[in-house]
Amino acid sequence: MKGLTRRDLLVGSAAALAPSTVLPTILVSTQAKPIVVASGNGHTVKNGGPRTCIEEAYRKIVGGDDVLESVVAGVNIVELDPADTSVGYGGLPNADGVVQLDSCVMHGTRRWAGGVAALEGVRTPSSVARLVAAGTDHHLLVGRGAQDFARQMGFTVEADLNSDRSRQLWLEWKRRIDPDHYLDPARRDGAALAMMREGLIDREHYWGTINCLGMNSKGEICGVTTTSGLAFKIPGRVGDSPILGAGLYVDNPVGAAGSTGRGEANLYNLCSFLVVEELRRGKHPKDAGFEALRRVAANTREKRLLDDRGRPAFGLSFYVLDAKGRYAGVNMSGRAMFSVCDENGPRRESCESLFP
Ligand code: GLY
Repeated sequence: MKGLTRRDLLVGSAAALAPSTVLPTILVSTQAKPIVVASGNGHTVKNGGPRTCIEEAYRKIVGGDDVLESVVAGVNIVELDPADTSVGYGGLPNADGVVQLDSCVMHGTRRWAGGVAALEGVRTPSSVARLVAAGTDHHLLVGRGAQDFARQMGFTVEADLNSDRSRQLWLEWKRRIDPDHYLDPARRDGAALAMMREGLIDREHYWGTINCLGMNSKGEICGVTTTSGLAFKIPGRVGDSPILGAGLYVDNPVGAAGSTGRGEANLYNLCSFLVVEELRRGKHPKDAGFEALRRVAANTREKRLLDDRGRPAFGLSFYVLDAKGRYAGVNMSGRAMFSVCDENGPRRESCESLFP
């Protein structure tokens, strides 16, 4: 037993124990330390309130609220704040100037999951995704169906979720793009990347997204990912964020992973699922995340997606929390931050890069 906590025993060996020897749940509840792990924007905006996403989620988790409700309440702050142009209200719109939002949630212990994609007019897609999980037999509602569902559930559906800022940036992009080249991804990236270089678009907000994972003192893990998706995307494009196993995956006895960055690269490799499976094999969250980044790098072959050293030229990050409370933020290259809130307080930490 040396080196093992009672929680380790319960998590790692429950299947092997006879029913009479299974430790009471109360032992787990005294061992796990509540924690919230999120992308960097989890500890930036407050939408005029007193707390950031991770502060709100952590406060609710230690107060005894359901973990999924807590992390959704956290990301609601970012969805509602137009200062974050990658999520919810004021998110960068699609090529037609329409804000289309994607989100999914997973509840580790109830084994619920739900998502919405290409949802227009509702500022908090994560709350709609939670209701898909909690109140329907389905996992994913898209487009008009998702909007009708939200309306039926009592959400306000607005005609336009652009803020002045997101509309101006779309107009600037439109002005720069030659419509003849609209279908050329390289040219499209070229315009947006130039806008990033000029400081008009935050690099973190081009692919955008917030992911937030939480664990309470009972070891219950939940997660949420929500986004306005790729800036200026083709209308109807759905990225990784609402797709279970890509933008988010939770398996309570093992851990959870979520992602921000280029959704197409993540979707091709179903990285959140991959990361959780690597945790299951015993990897540390950082190594599990690196394994997924290596997989993405190996599967990225198109020249337009590679830098001059043959490495992926796009941003992609994973946030990983295992059932023991160990965590990591990892990214493909360059500087990126992630957010953590635990007994030591809220903070932003540097992601570890596969290609520093
Ligand atoms: N990761 C967000 C997106 O690609 O839509």
